[in-house]
Amino acid sequence: MRALLVFGTRPEAIKMCPLVLELKKHKEVETIVCLTGQHREMLEQVMHAFGVKEDYNLDIMKDRQTLTTITTSILEKIEPVLKDECPDIVLVHGDTTTSYAAALAAFYQQIPVGHVEAGLRTGDIYSPFPEEMNRLLTDRISTYYFAPTKLNESNLKHEGILEGIYVTGNTVIDSFATTVKDNYEYHNKAVRDVDFENKRVILVTAHRRENLGQPLCNICNAIKRLAKKYKDVQFIYPVHLNPAVRDTVFDILSDISNVMLIDPLDVLDMHNMMARCFMVMTDSGGIQEEAPHFGKPVLVLRTETERPEAVEAGTVKVVGVEEEDIYREAVVLIDNRNEYDKMAHAVNPYGDGQASERIVKALIGRLPAGSSTQ
Ligand code: UD1
Ligand code: UDP
Repeated sequence: MRALLVFGTRPEAIKMCPLVLELKKHKEVETIVCLTGQHREMLEQVMHAFGVKEDYNLDIMKDRQTLTTITTSILEKIEPVLKDECPDIVLVHGDTTTSYAAALAAFYQQIPVGHVEAGLRTGDIYSPFPEEMNRLLTDRISTYYFAPTKLNESNLKHEGILEGIYVTGNTVIDSFATTVKDNYEYHNKAVRDVDFENKRVILVTAHRRENLGQPLCNICNAIKRLAKKYKDVQFIYPVHLNPAVRDTVFDILSDISNVMLIDPLDVLDMHNMMARCFMVMTDSGGIQEEAPHFGKPVLVLRTETERPEAVEAGTVKVVGVEEEDIYREAVVLIDNRNEYDKMAHAVNPYGDGQASERIVKALIGRLPAGSSTQ
C-alpha cells in the first residue's frame, strides 16, 4: 500500500507526525510525506521536533497569503506529485486550506482520501472561517473518516455519511509521547528563566482569521488590563508569525513588564509549558484538546467551538471576543480558588494516545487486497 500524507501548517504537522511515525513501523505500507508549505518556519519547527523528513515540499507560502492563492498554488503544484506517486490513498488532516485543496486534488486524480480528524462541526460556515467549510468539503470528498470522538462520528452520520468511519481518538494525544518530558529544559531562553513553580503563568495564543481586527484588539486589551491588575501573574504570549496578528499584538501589548511577547515556540517547549502553566487563554483549536489533558483551565477566545467535549467535561469555557467578558472570566479564575479548582482537572475526551495505531490498523484492514502482508 502506498499512502501519501499531505499537510502544510503547524497544527496539521503536530497531529500527522505521530501517524507518519506509526506508519513507518509497518513495512507493508510505503509512506510518502508531501508538505504543501502553507506554513514555513512554524512547520519546520514541528518536523524537526518529530524527526520526520518530507519527500516533497511544495513550498507555497507567501507573505500575507490569501485563501485563493493557497488553494490554487496547492492544486497546481500537487498534481504532478499525485501523478508520479500514484498512491492508493491520500491522507489529509483537519480543516485547513491545505487539507481541502489536497483532498480536491486527490479527487481530481480519482484517488481515495482518508480524513484524519473528521467530523468536527460548529454548524456555522463562517465560524471558524474558512475552516468549517474546509472540513465539510473535505468530508464530502473522503472515503475514510478517522473521527476523534463519538460525537464527531455522529456529526458525520447526521450528514448521511454512514460508511468508512473509524472512531480513533485524536492523534494530538499521541504526540505527547514525543514532546512531554520530566525535568524538561526549555529551548527558548526567556521561558527557561520563568519560575513555573512559584509563579502563576497564563499562556495566551490567538491567530484565527475571524478574530483579526477588532476581536483581536479586544483580546489584547483584556490581557493588558489583567496584566496591570495582577502584577504577580506572568503572561506568556507566543505570537503567530502572521503579520496581521503581530501588528495588533505588538501595538497593544509591548512594554508591559509581566507580558512576555515571544516568537512561536517549538512544540516541545509549547507542550511542556502547557503541562506547567496555571491556565490558558486561546482561540486555537488544538490547544483546546491539549490543555484539558494536562488539567489546565482554558478560556476560549471565540464565540463557538467545534470541540464541545471538554466544555461538557468542565475544563474549557467559551468566553467570546468582547473585552469585558474575557476580563471578567479570567478574573474569576485568578481570584477564586474554588472556581479554578472546578475547572482544573485532567480529562481525556480526545483519546488515550493510541489514535495513530488505530488509524494504521484501519488502513491496513480496508485498503485493496494484496496491499497488506498481514
Ligand atoms: C492557518 C490555517 C488555520 C490554522 C492555522 C494554524 C487556513 C485557511 N488557515 O492559518 O486553520 O488554525 O494555520 O496556525 O488554512 N506565516 C509565516 N510563517 C509561517 C506561518 C505563517 O510568516 O511559518 C505568515 C505568512 O505571512 C502567512 C500568514 O502568516 O501569509 C498567514 O498564514 P496562513 O496559513 O494563511 O494563515 P494562518 O492564520 O496561519
Ligand atoms: N503551538 C506551538 N507553538 C506555539 C503555539 C502553538 O507549538 O507557539 C502548538 C499548540 O501546542 C498546538 C498547535 O500548535 O499543538 C495549535 O496550532 P494553532 O493554534 O496554530 O492552530 P489550530 O489548532 O487553531 O488550528
